[in-house]
Amino acid sequence: MSLKQEIARRKTFGIISHPDAGKTTLTEKLLLFGGAIQTAGAVKSNKIKKSATSDFMEIEKQRGISVATSVMSFEYKGTKINILDTPGHKDFAEDTFRTLTAVDSVILVVDVAKGVEAQTRKLMQVCRMRNTPVIIFVNKMDREGQDPFDILEELENELKISTRPLSWPINMGTRFKGVYLLHNNSLNLFEADKTKKASEYIEINNLSDKQLDQIIGDSDANQLREDVELINGVFEPFDREMYEEGLLAPVFFGSALNNFGVQEMLDTFVNIAPSPKSRSTNLRDIEPLENKMSGFIFKIHANLDPNHRDRIAFLRVCSGVFERNKFYIHPRTEKKMRFSNPYTFLADSKEVTQYAYPGDVVGLYDTGNFKIGDGLTEGEKIEFKGIPSFSPELFREVVNLDPMRSKQLEKGLNQLTNEGVAQLFTQQPGNRKIIGVVGELQFEVIQYRLEHEYNAKARFELVNYHKACWMTGGENEITGFIKYRPQDIVYDKDKNMVFLAQTAYILQMAKTNNPTIEFHETSEFKVD
Ligand code: G4P
Repeated sequence: MSLKQEIARRKTFGIISHPDAGKTTLTEKLLLFGGAIQTAGAVKSNKIKKSATSDFMEIEKQRGISVATSVMSFEYKGTKINILDTPGHKDFAEDTFRTLTAVDSVILVVDVAKGVEAQTRKLMQVCRMRNTPVIIFVNKMDREGQDPFDILEELENELKISTRPLSWPINMGTRFKGVYLLHNNSLNLFEADKTKKASEYIEINNLSDKQLDQIIGDSDANQLREDVELINGVFEPFDREMYEEGLLAPVFFGSALNNFGVQEMLDTFVNIAPSPKSRSTNLRDIEPLENKMSGFIFKIHANLDPNHRDRIAFLRVCSGVFERNKFYIHPRTEKKMRFSNPYTFLADSKEVTQYAYPGDVVGLYDTGNFKIGDGLTEGEKIEFKGIPSFSPELFREVVNLDPMRSKQLEKGLNQLTNEGVAQLFTQQPGNRKIIGVVGELQFEVIQYRLEHEYNAKARFELVNYHKACWMTGGENEITGFIKYRPQDIVYDKDKNMVFLAQTAYILQMAKTNNPTIEFHETSEFKVD
């Protein structure tokens, strides 16, 4: 197969949701369709159970599971599908944000009873920054939930995206009868069956046909007729270009647990989801079809067992063909690198691979060379864009408890930040170090790893900051701004200047008083 054909048949995407909406269940059903697993229950949830938030070994166990399911690949109707898994726990949200930089589209799962939830909002914000195409699956239709029109309105208002239902539910909860597929005029009748694989569709070309009343009953048939008329009156027909630009999300209704409504979504996904696209770098855009291999690291997974200090760096291939045992260049350090055991991932296992193509993810053994966002090329010194840091939500100052081991502490902090476990901000003069994270659990992970892997002891002291902001604007204005608040100015890992705002009010005042300076909550500046 030519490179062009390999690229065209690949779809790399992520499933995102607020915890408990059904992401793991849906992933499993997709793998069943792809024949990648044979039975339900094979995919373990990677979410850290709420009850285990303070049990570190439990976190570790869960992390172990999550590396096994970091990437799941399977073939479906001639398409090579790569699902990049995202951690469900909110404390590891930054991991999820970064994984979203490596996908070409997403499927968003929403619980019909709960609608848009906190994590849904945040994740979609990241998708909007990158104009990622989104398909929405409204899940748990076998339970009582909100009116489907209300759900669509909520999705549009809260997620700032237009929607277009492609399937429509007939009742819900115990009275759920199935869905009507608006894009091919057919009925898919609901059966509560967790083992069912393929759906059977009944063609209903004319909704006024009495056959419909016989199948689903007069009352539901009339409701469906009314609903469809309203949909056709209110919603524009599905526009693929708008979907590809991330402006319009097709919506499906179903029940992942019962493997219902999943097949029509998967079939649509295979049909419309984009193949690997071009990627921006500091020098130029990279096209997947280029002959030379290039890719970037979006995730690093460390083995926390001190006897096996290896790390796995996850490379998303962006152009050309990645080959085993070939020499590549790591542009940041200009080191030559060769990988004798690169592997690709199947549903629940991994295998050494000879070749990988744009859209694929390769796991590379790493001894500490890589950091998140690094590139790998055949020589060109490019830096990939679009892998930003996001403002942390919690900040603590690092207090060294063993001055004899400050080198180890420094090394540990640097390596952990390179892995993306947390963000490190340094204040000069004085070398004061402030760690920023998204969730409390991350502090626990850092403390544990510093102690066990680097033999360094540190305490984290609460410091009250609200947001980290990267700044752009005139040099004079920024110099003037920082002159009056040196105590709130720090530097990130790439030596960019960052303003730590103590409260939302102070940030607002800074914005009002300095209209020529822009304050950004991500380290790359395309924010909505
Ligand atoms: P997540 O990865 O998004 O966190 O969600 P997950 O798939 O683990 O699903 C969360 C819970 O919702 C699970 O129940 C799962 O069985 C249930 N669920 C998923 N899809 C459906 C659906 O279509 N209908 C109904 N009624 N429930 C659904 P649990 O009790 O938390 O876990 P388990 O003991 O069933 O594994």
